[in-house]
Amino acid sequence: MQELLKDLIVRARAELSVIAERPAFESAKARLVGPNGELTAMMKRMGSVAKEERPALGKLINEAKQQVQALLDGALERIVAAEMAAQLGPQVDATLPAPDAGPGTFHPLTQIREEMCRILRKVGFAVADGPEVETEYYCFDALSTPVDHPARDPQDTFYFPEGLQFANIAKRNPGERYLLRTHTSSVQIRTMLQGQPPIRIVSPGRVYRRDTADATHSANFHQLECLYVDRNVTVRDLKALLDYVFASLLGKETKIRFRPHYFGYTEPSFEVDASALHLPKVNKEWMEIGGCGMVDPEVFAAVGYDPAVWTGYAFGMGLERLAMNLYGIDDIRYFYQNDARFLKQFA
Ligand code: DAH
Repeated sequence: MQELLKDLIVRARAELSVIAERPAFESAKARLVGPNGELTAMMKRMGSVAKEERPALGKLINEAKQQVQALLDGALERIVAAEMAAQLGPQVDATLPAPDAGPGTFHPLTQIREEMCRILRKVGFAVADGPEVETEYYCFDALSTPVDHPARDPQDTFYFPEGLQFANIAKRNPGERYLLRTHTSSVQIRTMLQGQPPIRIVSPGRVYRRDTADATHSANFHQLECLYVDRNVTVRDLKALLDYVFASLLGKETKIRFRPHYFGYTEPSFEVDASALHLPKVNKEWMEIGGCGMVDPEVFAAVGYDPAVWTGYAFGMGLERLAMNLYGIDDIRYFYQNDARFLKQFA
């Protein structure tokens, strides 16, 4: 019997080592350990063996069973791995180029932002940053925006609930609320409080307004702000800067015009238009670009600069609106959907 068991294991090992498919495996398994298999047959023969030999023989059969089971497990593992490899198909060659290896590109808003910063750096402006969570002081109060100004209405501005604390955004006044900044003009105040004039900064960033999203509105969008503070700054300097910036961005033939307007933090204040007829996708004579003006003496007073000594100009613009005009994009929501078919057009 011992010999028979040994022989069984030798045969099982030889047979299972060459089996590569499931049907062959299943029939080998049935023949070895199934109810009508060889091992079961040997168990049945126990009855004809002398009583005192049975325990030893039972032990031998059990050991043989375990060995056969281990051989079966090994064979099955090999077959499953082969099936998986067949499903995955031929080996992946990681050195081949990707099937869609079009050139990567910056987002159109990033392109305009970077181009504007590059143009402004050339004439001495440094890039400044400010937080998107702000307090009423930086966003409104220090910019001479009265408490009853419509921009401060909770219908237009996102306020945080009372009691919330932002450890890294210090409040200047105990009663003021936290909000999401509605414009990048808040960076003017932060920069002036941090340093001393002369100041020349450009600050691009995300801003938030309580607008219902449609083709021309989005609850968050992007602006770019400029601030220049020095002695004897005049409207001529402001006009010269904008002439230079937009000639660099849109071409030498670009003209800039000012239209009188009102902003609380500049006096005089203007809206800025750029001539557009030479731009292929802009089908109007003038396109509105942003707002600007001479820094109001009240703003200087708020940040502790002597308004009798210091003068300056400020300018702010929306990046989406410019991009939409320039590229003929008719829905602002395309900027945020990250559809590759849209983004690829700016490669
Ligand atoms: N903050 C204004 C806005 O969001 C834009 C603006 C106007 C910025 C005049 C300025 C400025 O710096 O002087 O519509």
